[in-house]
Amino acid sequence: MSGTSSVYPTALPPSQRPGDPGTVLKTVSAEQAAREEALVNQVVAAFDGTTSPRLKQLVQSLTRHLHAFIRETRLTTAEWDAAIQFLTRCGHITDDRRQEFILLSDVFGISMQTIAVNNEAYGDATEATVFGPFFVEGSPAVAIGGDIANGAAGEPCWVEGTVTDVEGKPIPGALIEVWEADDDGLYDVQYTDDRTAARAHLHSDDQGRYAFWAVTPTPYPIPHDGPVGDLLAATNRSPMRTSHLHFLVSADGSHTLVTHIFVDGCDYLESDAVFGVKPSLIKDFERQEGGSPTPDGRKIDGSWTKVRFDIVLAPAKGTEDEDVHWIAVHEGHRLV
Ligand SMILES: [Fe+2]
Repeated sequence: MSGTSSVYPTALPPSQRPGDPGTVLKTVSAEQAAREEALVNQVVAAFDGTTSPRLKQLVQSLTRHLHAFIRETRLTTAEWDAAIQFLTRCGHITDDRRQEFILLSDVFGISMQTIAVNNEAYGDATEATVFGPFFVEGSPAVAIGGDIANGAAGEPCWVEGTVTDVEGKPIPGALIEVWEADDDGLYDVQYTDDRTAARAHLHSDDQGRYAFWAVTPTPYPIPHDGPVGDLLAATNRSPMRTSHLHFLVSADGSHTLVTHIFVDGCDYLESDAVFGVKPSLIKDFERQEGGSPTPDGRKIDGSWTKVRFDIVLAPAKGTEDEDVHWIAVHEGHRLV
């Protein structure tokens, strides 16, 4: 026998982490390690003829990482079978109104990591966060000061701010898409009556200003009646998302921003199920007494809230979306 042996951590008791005293390691023979390594190399080489250099990089890197996961964990055939069944369930439950794969990406932090590598800090530009599974193309237009709720249940919330570049120059005509859950924690697409509510788009005015009425965001669980919910339950994780309002802001010459604003004081600020919260995006939704005057004279009997969100867009890099044209984009979900 020649060469070196390889060691892999086995499953650890809940009280232990890799590297802790008492961690158990499994050793495999040099011959076994060489067989496993040969297969990795064989699969990587099978992709050598890929025409797109970028696709080649992605599939070869994916091969190496997936094989490393299988070898490190010594994945059993029963576990492989369970994984296939799990992904099959994710596919079966996904349709035009439910996207289980985005949820899966979200709860593993994959969405946030992708956001992180694509949105390196740029000056004072507003930070990005997860897109989420509930954006729908073709939202209704509202004028500045209009109401996006369109009948959605909830406490009225006045949202206002500006869109500027990183030098503070106003960006007129920026397209601002906004969407949120209602007071019952559901997006319109989660109802079966084809309603359109709590989503709309508007444009900033000639001084970069915008304002609209919405409903005060409340915490809600991500859909957890499917395979991703089962995963969260099996791992003792909460499905709750921190209260938030989604924004997608785009303008010529600017980097498209996908973000939320989060409600300061929400009980779930520290435990967002999809790891989306960033301190700079936590905003004070100031509660106003019932009957107090509103910014546009709207009469509201009960309480309402108001929040300010000034949006700063980074300049476009000029290479956005390059090399992704071979990716089949699911109808209704755009690459951003
Ligand atoms: Fe959301």
